[in-house]
Parts: sequence; C-alpha cells; structure tokens
Amino acid sequence: MHRVDHPFRKIVLVCVNERTDGRECCAQKGALDLHHKLKMAVAAVDPSVRVSKSGCLDHCSTGITVVIQPDNIWLARVSEQDIPELVKIITN
Ligand code: FES
Repeated sequence: MHRVDHPFRKIVLVCVNERTDGRECCAQKGALDLHHKLKMAVAAVDPSVRVSKSGCLDHCSTGITVVIQPDNIWLARVSEQDIPELVKIITN
C-alpha cells in the first residue's frame, strides 16, 4: 500500500446502508437522496470537502447517520431540512 495525494480537507460520510431483513436502516429513510442533495450543496460552497456514501455506521435506529471527519462530529436523525445548517457546520 502507499499514501496518495488528495485535495480534500474533510470527508463527510452519509450512511446509505439498506437492510432487507426488516430492521431499520438509513436507506429506508431517504439516505440516498439526502447524500445527493448534501453533496451538491457542499460542493457549491467548498469543493475541498468530500461527501461520500457510507455503509452502516451503527446508529441505525436513529438514522439517517452522518459523520464529519476529521472533526469527529456524529449526527443522528438527519433529514433534508437540515441541509442548510449541515453545510454551515461542514464548511466552517
Ligand atoms: S443503517 Fe445507517 S447507521 Fe446503520
């Protein structure tokens, strides 16, 4: 393995995990749509922040789960209405 250069100062993970066994998951709460809209909103303000899809972040019942690194901010019950506030938190 080797390190690679990158232009990003932060990475935001949006859980888009989908369960098919009946248990709660972020996908059933609209996580894919949230990821797309948040990615576009953040890119318009600060292209040095990467917004990526993630697998399960282990907070399924309180999803949609979003994690901001390297700030180590974990957010639960995130919805589309939170996008303006999220953009401010992420890009500060
Ligand atoms: S399914 Fe999203 S945190 Fe587990």
